Amino acid sequence: GRTRHYTFNVVMKTATRLCSTKPIVTVNGRFPGPTLYAREGDNVLVNVINQVKYNVTIHWHGVRQLRTGWADGPAYITQCPIQPGNSYAYNFIITGQRGTLFWHAHILWLRVTVHGAIVILPKLNVPYPFPAPYKEEVIILGEWWKADTEAVINQALKTGLAPNVSDAHIINGHPGPMSDCPTSKGFQLEVKSGETYMLRIINAALNEELFFKVAGHQMTVVEVDASYTKPYKTDTILITPGQTTNVLLTADREAGRYLVTASTFMDSPIAVDNQTAMATVHYTNTLSTSILTTTDPPPQNATPVASNFIDSLRSLNSEQYPARVPLTVDHSLLFTVGLGVNPCPTCVNGSRVVADMNNVSFTMPTTAILQAHYFNISGVFTDDFPGKPPIDFNYTGSGPKNLGTMTGTRVYRLPFNSSVQVVLQDTGIIAPENHPLHLHGFNFFAVGRGLGNYNPNTSPYKFNLVDPVERNTIGVPSGGWTAIRFSADNPGVWFMHCHLEVHTTWGLKMAFVVDNGIGPDESLLPPPKDLPPC
Ligand code: C2O
Repeated sequence: GRTRHYTFNVVMKTATRLCSTKPIVTVNGRFPGPTLYAREGDNVLVNVINQVKYNVTIHWHGVRQLRTGWADGPAYITQCPIQPGNSYAYNFIITGQRGTLFWHAHILWLRVTVHGAIVILPKLNVPYPFPAPYKEEVIILGEWWKADTEAVINQALKTGLAPNVSDAHIINGHPGPMSDCPTSKGFQLEVKSGETYMLRIINAALNEELFFKVAGHQMTVVEVDASYTKPYKTDTILITPGQTTNVLLTADREAGRYLVTASTFMDSPIAVDNQTAMATVHYTNTLSTSILTTTDPPPQNATPVASNFIDSLRSLNSEQYPARVPLTVDHSLLFTVGLGVNPCPTCVNGSRVVADMNNVSFTMPTTAILQAHYFNISGVFTDDFPGKPPIDFNYTGSGPKNLGTMTGTRVYRLPFNSSVQVVLQDTGIIAPENHPLHLHGFNFFAVGRGLGNYNPNTSPYKFNLVDPVERNTIGVPSGGWTAIRFSADNPGVWFMHCHLEVHTTWGLKMAFVVDNGIGPDESLLPPPKDLPPC
């Protein structure tokens, strides 16, 4: 592979959306940020120069970072932040992946505007395992707040309550015409009759799982999270924060204009957010008189639509791209994920919402865990993240509930190359809710999924160990569970967290420490010289 050089200047920029204007943090003054292109096997070198008043880090979401954990990016997990006026060159190789991923800031809520696509093309002269599209387009879904987002979350932490939902969803930076600003222009995708397009769809929203639809058209899913899938035809895509989905869309309808929608999926009864972002697909030979063909987005709580989509995805599992599912398990873990309530004397209600895994609400350290691990600095983290819930209770039903959560910077240690199964079990402590869980440093196979409580005696018999979908982010169903498997072949410290940013803020996060292998080719590389100091 060759080396791809990029310079990311983190700078402020004034932006107007929903008829209101505010300064936002951007990369190179662009929102969404620049697309990073590479081929499988390439070396990527991105020099990030921080010219804003905030601390910054950038995460290459879904990139394996094999032995290069120093370039992963989550603040205080693998690095301390790049301080104002400083820079850091992220240096990594794209190994065994091709498709769409994305990069985003990984500190506070800065990723709301600091994000962009990563397009990984196959190696030179290696075709796609599907007919080559006429053209490719990046479609980034996001959110927009009129207010300053750091102020939104800080206010919520002060009161102990949930933060305000965004004022709009956006498609490639634009909400489209909204009731509170009808002049707002939407993104327009130009297509030529008869041609097939590959849409590289990214959910970069902070807190919204989304349905994506194009009126009158079917889409064929061919890849998710930079891993090929069996072609799956559908009229609705479900995409959670942290997920990426490549679809083929053929312009096979009458020339005209067709509405594109990105709308909320949320089956929790406690929150309402029915904003829908709008864009259009526009055939180039459209008559000026042709009207817009519209579509109704699924209802916000359309769980059957979501479940049907999730259950339909399979790895391609071809001879060239086999699904290497771990068939045996060395570490079988059960992690509850959910929300809780802790006392908070200074909060308005005397309590605050927290989020936890196995009853631990993760506390951010002030020294990066990877550095503490590598240089043997004590007092930064403890090794005692529980492998199973500390208290047995009916996770999804009524009955005794562990309301008070523990805090701590706790990690779970995995021997190099061990084979790991994690069952992620949703809890109904406050209310059941979907949680898109993201694991850094690995792709995993989503081998099973069910409603209610996971049953270790019966549930595994239904696992798909042949062609389960391979991902880096998976939804844990509301009041149910998801089982994932991966091989711990990447030494370092790897964050796992809910990709709903508000849940991460509340503590729904933990980290795995994977030991070094024996040989020099199996070990974490030494830290780069310009790694930001803690
Ligand atoms: Cu895309 Cu740790 O995040």
